[in-house]
Amino acid sequence: MKLSLLAVASLAALSQATRVKRDHANNDYYVLHLARDAEPAQVAARLGLEHQGELQLADHHVFRAAKTDTDLVDTEIKARKRRKRDAIDGEADIVDGVLLSQKQTPRSGHLEKRIPPRQLVPAGWSMAAASPQQPVDWAVQRQTEVMRDLDISDPIFTEQWHLYNTVQPGHDVNVTDVWSQGITGNNVTVAIIDDGLDMYSNDLKANYFAAGSWDYNDHDPEPKPELSDDRHGTRCAGEVAAARNDVCGVGVAYDANIAGIRILSGELTNADEAEAMIYKYQDNDIYSCSWGPPDDGRHMEAPDILIKRAMLQGVQEGRGGKGSVYVFASGNGAAHGDNCNFDGYTNSIYSITVGAVDRAGNHPYYSEHCSANLVVTYSSGAGDSIHTTDVGVDKCYDGHGGTSAAAPLAAGIFALVLSIRPDLSWRDLQYLALHSAATVADDNAGWQETAIGKQFSHIFGYGKVDSWAMVEMAKDWNLVKPQAWWFSPWQHVKKPIPEGKEGLSVHFEVTTDMLKEANLERVEHVTVTMNVEHTRRGDISVDLISPEGVVSHIATDRMSDEEKAGYDNWTFMSVAHWGESGVGKWTIIVKDNKVNKHQGVFVDWHLKLWGESIDADKATLLPMPNPDDDADHDKTIVTTVTAEPSTATAPPRPDETFVHDTQPTDHPVRPTKPAKPNPTQEDKGSMTGQVEEASGEATPSSETWISWLPSLGASKAAQPWIYGALGLIVAFCIGLGIALFIVRRRRIKNDSRSNYEFEMLDEEESEGLTAGEKPVGVAGGRKKRRGGELYDAFAGGSEDEDEVSEFDRYEDREPSQSAHSLPGERGGDQFALGGESDEDDSDDEARGKRRQT
Ligand SMILES: *[C@@H]1O[C@H](CO)[C@@H](O)[C@H](O)[C@H]1NC(C)=O
Ligand SMILES: *[C@@H]1O[C@H](CO)[C@@H](O)[C@H](O)[C@H]1NC(C)=O
Ligand SMILES: *[C@@H]1O[C@H](CO)[C@@H](O)[C@H](O)[C@H]1NC(C)=O
Repeated sequence: MKLSLLAVASLAALSQATRVKRDHANNDYYVLHLARDAEPAQVAARLGLEHQGELQLADHHVFRAAKTDTDLVDTEIKARKRRKRDAIDGEADIVDGVLLSQKQTPRSGHLEKRIPPRQLVPAGWSMAAASPQQPVDWAVQRQTEVMRDLDISDPIFTEQWHLYNTVQPGHDVNVTDVWSQGITGNNVTVAIIDDGLDMYSNDLKANYFAAGSWDYNDHDPEPKPELSDDRHGTRCAGEVAAARNDVCGVGVAYDANIAGIRILSGELTNADEAEAMIYKYQDNDIYSCSWGPPDDGRHMEAPDILIKRAMLQGVQEGRGGKGSVYVFASGNGAAHGDNCNFDGYTNSIYSITVGAVDRAGNHPYYSEHCSANLVVTYSSGAGDSIHTTDVGVDKCYDGHGGTSAAAPLAAGIFALVLSIRPDLSWRDLQYLALHSAATVADDNAGWQETAIGKQFSHIFGYGKVDSWAMVEMAKDWNLVKPQAWWFSPWQHVKKPIPEGKEGLSVHFEVTTDMLKEANLERVEHVTVTMNVEHTRRGDISVDLISPEGVVSHIATDRMSDEEKAGYDNWTFMSVAHWGESGVGKWTIIVKDNKVNKHQGVFVDWHLKLWGESIDADKATLLPMPNPDDDADHDKTIVTTVTAEPSTATAPPRPDETFVHDTQPTDHPVRPTKPAKPNPTQEDKGSMTGQVEEASGEATPSSETWISWLPSLGASKAAQPWIYGALGLIVAFCIGLGIALFIVRRRRIKNDSRSNYEFEMLDEEESEGLTAGEKPVGVAGGRKKRRGGELYDAFAGGSEDEDEVSEFDRYEDREPSQSAHSLPGERGGDQFALGGESDEDDSDDEARGKRRQT
C-alpha cells in the first residue's frame, strides 16, 4: 500500500536505538525526552553520557553511562533548578532542554499473560454433564458445505467451534459468509505482542511477517519462543491467522499477516515496552495484547508515561495517521473481584477492551467486568476452549482460553474489517465494533439502555462481536470527524466519605457553550481522574451518572484489595456514554462500602469528555502526556459537594436544613461560586493551561450547590458536636492516610525487588511445591502429580498444565481428540485433571500470585 511505502521510507531514516542490545549489568541507560533544539551530542557531553540514538518515540533518546547507584541526570537537573531558583546561574544550560528523564531499570514479570485461573468446582461436579456435546445435523451439513466451498481441509477446523459452532449454532463469530466474499484479511497485519511466535510452525509460516517482528527480551529480530512456557503468543497468533492448509485449523483472518513482538519472556524496560507498542507501526496495523498487570484484585497499575506516550503516538501517527489499533484482553480476575478499570492498559481510551463469552453464550467466571469493556468474543468455558495452533512444526492446541484468547480473536475480526476499509481510523473501528455487536442473551448481566439506544453491560460491553455484521456495516461506513475533547477543571471536594450505601455525591454541570467552545459534538469515551485518600482501597467504589441517566460503575469495591491507599490521580474510563451530547449534570458518587475501621476522604476529581469534533478543520492533536499533567490541583478553587436525595434504601436523614446552619467552619455553607470551566483553543494545546484559565469568572450555568452531610440521626443540639468530633477523626485519618502513603512510597522506592515479586513467587512455588521434580520439556515425559496437593495446577511447572482451561482440568475425557496433538501433551493435562476437585481458596490465591493468572 502507498501508505506503507512512505512509512517504510521514513522509518528507515530513524535511528536504530531500539535494536541495540543493552548490557544492564554493566551500564546504566537513560531515556531523555529532548526539546527539539537540544542537540543530543551536546546533552551527552554536558551530562557525561554516551548518546546511543533516538527511539521510535519521537524526540526520545537513549543514553548510556557507567553503572552507578545514583540517577546522574536527575541530580544534574535538580542542581540546575536550584541554581536557577537562587539566580546563581543566569546562563543558558543545555540541561534545560531535557524535558523528561528516566533511568531505565529492567524488570521482569510485571506483566502477566491472561490465561484463566482455575475455577472452583465442587467435588464430583462434572463439566461434561453440564454441556451436552451433540452436534446439530443441519449445522454439520452447512459446515461441510462451507469447507467444500472455501476449500478448507484443515484437520481441526471442525473443532474450531468459535468459527463455526455445530453444537450451539449461532454461538460463534459468524465469519463464514465474510470469508465466502473473499474477505480473509489480505493486506492487514496483526502484531501479537506476547511471549513470542513460532514462525517455523507450518500453520503460521505462510502468514508470518518478519519485517514487523522483534524480540525485546532477547534483542534480536526473531521473536522465537525460547522458554518452555513461551506458547501463549503462538496460540494467539494461530487464532488470528493460522493459514488455510493441512495443519491444525485456520485463523479467523487466515490470509492476514502475523507479526510477533516478544516482551513477556524476560527483562523489559519501560523504553522497550514503549517501543514494542509502536514497533513498525506503519506496517503493523493492529496490536493484540493478551496481558497486563496481575489480575489478582489487588493491583492498580497503569502503563508508564513512556508507554502512554507511545500509545498516543501510535493512534496519532500509526497506520499512515489512521491510528494503530490496540486490542487488549479485559483480564481474568473476575473471580478475585478484579475489574478492568484498575488496569491502565484496558481502561485507556486508545485500546479496545475485549472480554470473553463462552460457547454456551454465558459469562465465563474469569472475564472481568468494567465500564471500559467495549465488546466480548468467544473463549473458554462451558466445557470447551479455543482450538488453535501451538508451538511446534505441526502442533495444535485445544486448551487455549481466558480473555487471552478473546482479544486475538477480536483482533483478527478487526483485520477482516480493515482489509476492506483500510481508511478507517482507530475510532471508526471502535464505533463499528460497538454498533455491530450482538447483545448476549443474559438477563443477569445488568443491561442498560444507553442514550443512543444501545444495550450496554459492564460484563459484556456492547455485546459480542459479529464478524459478518461488522464487515457489512464497515462497507458503507462514513468516517467520523477527528477527535475533540473537553476537560472540566479540577473539582475540589475534600470531604469524608460516609460509610454505607449512600456515599458522597458531587456533580458538575456541562453547558452547551462549553462543548461548543471545545469543538466537541458528541461523546465517545468519558474519563474521570480522581484522588481519594483511604486506609483500605478495596472498600471504595465510584459511580458516574451522565446527564442522560446512564450509570457507569467506574470503580468497584474489591474484596482482596487491602492497599492502605486510595486513588492517586487515577483515571477511570467508560464507554457506556457513547453518543451522548455530554451537556447537563454529570454526577459522581463515591462510596465506602464497608462499615469498618477504614475511612477515607474524597479529595478531588475532574471529568474529561472525549468524542467527535464539530468542525474537523479546527481539530488538533492531543499533546503528549506529561508527568505533571495533574499538578495543578491547587490552582483550581472549584468546590462541589452535594448529598444525593435519600434513596429508598438509604438511612433517613432528618433535618438536612439544620445541617446547613451548623456546619463546621471548614465546610462552606453557601453555594460556592465555582469557576467557569472555559476550555479555549489554548486549552487544547496545553492540558495544564486549561485549569488556570478556568479559575476565572463565575457562571450560573456551572453552579454547583452544597446541600450536605447526613445528620446521622442525631438531635440538632448534638450535631455540631458530632461533626466537630467527626472533623477531628477525619483529620486524624487523613493524617494517618498520608503517613501510610509516604511510608508505602518509601517502601516501594527502596525495594527494587518488588518488581520481581511475581517472577520470584513463580520460581519459589514451582520449586517448593513440586520439590524434586524438574520441569519437563515439550517432548519429554510428564511428571506425576502428588496426591491431593493443592497446587496441582503447577504440576510440571513448565507448560500446558498452567494454562489448560477448566474443561481440560475437570472434564473426564479422552486424552487426545486431535490427531495433531502429542498424546504426551494431553497426558500432561490428564495429570492436571487428576479427577480431583479439591481446590479451595488458597489454591486460587496461590495462582493469583503466579505470572500466569
Ligand atoms: C492486497 O493484496 C493482494 C494480494 O493478496 C494484492 O493483489 C493487492 O494489490 C493488495 N492490495 C493493496 C491495496 O495493496
Ligand atoms: C450472521 O451472518 C448472517 C449472514 O451470513 C446474517 O444473516 C446473520 O444475521 C448474522 N448473525 C447471526 C447471529 O447469525
Ligand atoms: C497527582 O499528580 C500531581 C502531579 O504529578 C502530584 O503533584 C500530586 O502529588 C499527585 N497526587 C497524588 C495523591 O499522588
